[in-house]
Amino acid sequence: MIVGSIIENLAEEKRVSLTPETAKNIIGLGLKVCIEKNYATHLGIEDSEYAKVGVEIKNSSDEVINLSNAIIKVNCPSENNINVLKENTILIGMFNPSKNKNLIEKIIKKKIKIFSLELLPRITRAQSMDVLSSQSNLAGYRAVVDCVAAFEKAVPMMMTAAGTVPAAKVLVIGAGVAGLQAIATAKRLGAIVSATDVRSASKEQVESLGGKFLTVEKSEDMETAGGYAKEASDDYKKKQAEMMKEALKKNDIVICTALIPGKPAPRILTENLVKLMKPGSIIYDLAAEQGGNSAFSEAGKINTIDGIKIIGVKSLMNSLPLTASSLYAKNLFSFIRNLYSKEKKNFNINLEDEIIEKSLIKEI
Ligand code: NAI
Repeated sequence: MIVGSIIENLAEEKRVSLTPETAKNIIGLGLKVCIEKNYATHLGIEDSEYAKVGVEIKNSSDEVINLSNAIIKVNCPSENNINVLKENTILIGMFNPSKNKNLIEKIIKKKIKIFSLELLPRITRAQSMDVLSSQSNLAGYRAVVDCVAAFEKAVPMMMTAAGTVPAAKVLVIGAGVAGLQAIATAKRLGAIVSATDVRSASKEQVESLGGKFLTVEKSEDMETAGGYAKEASDDYKKKQAEMMKEALKKNDIVICTALIPGKPAPRILTENLVKLMKPGSIIYDLAAEQGGNSAFSEAGKINTIDGIKIIGVKSLMNSLPLTASSLYAKNLFSFIRNLYSKEKKNFNINLEDEIIEKSLIKEI
């Protein structure tokens, strides 16, 4: 059995699905691995590093696709790649089914088994494969780094002979994986951090990182049985907006991370709320690609309104592609280890395994 990987569309995606380390691990399972030449040279990883651990280097993506039983990717394959894919190939990646409906339909029609790892269940056994967590965690970290770079003041409190510099105040909206890492990173830099979430379970997590939890008073808990957020009721939204009014006047940086699975991102900061912030403040919207938590936010753009910078994030993982690839490749390795049967020397698509069943796209 051969696992192959091809070069992504480098204009949009800098991450890779296979590192020399994970290639070695996959080969250790008893599989063969091949890649397209110059696979990760844009990241400073030469083909020779892959060859050293036993990876075969091929001249073109078509050659890799023709040879492989399973293809690992970051994003959905292009039309051209899909045309070359053979029946019964296994395709594993992050395929964003709601965005790539037509391409995925085409793939399923070709009788290709397509696993999209954003669909993995959030269970303990799947943690090592959890691509949403590994990438969101980095997003939370990078959000703070970007905000600090764009903020025209110092972040930590400094007592100097020339006077005292007050600590910057950071508000994190949504305390899931990205939000919690943003809290931890902002705390490490000396900011005064507060956070809010519709799930009351997150209060304890925020506080354990040294953040202050802002509770929306007299409101119900919005957590689903799966641990995700439900869409907030109108009553909740009203109370949350009231709470935000005071918070926005005080904070210098707001990091938005709120998402609802399968739905557009909740719009939490209206135009009027945004304008309550002081000039020089920053809103960093990690949810911009899903529609944005904030008014004036546009993916890939920085809009300045009344001196407030609203940064709409796009393809954030391209700012730290090496770390993002390293974690993503490890997630993929864990998934392959679960899918591959050493005894049968074949991939075992056991639909009784919740991990396999949930991540397999059967129809669209
Ligand atoms: P997410 O990326 O879907 O959403 C981010 C955060 O935004 C969530 O905490 C959500 O509650 C919050 N949110 C949504 N609407 C909001 C609103 N209107 N106002 C304020 N906050 C709002 O969530 P993520 O980061 O994927 O985490 C979801 C859950 O999954 C969490 O409970 C997390 O602890 C859990 N989880 C469990 C794992 C496991 O057991 N293997 C692994 C990773 C996460």
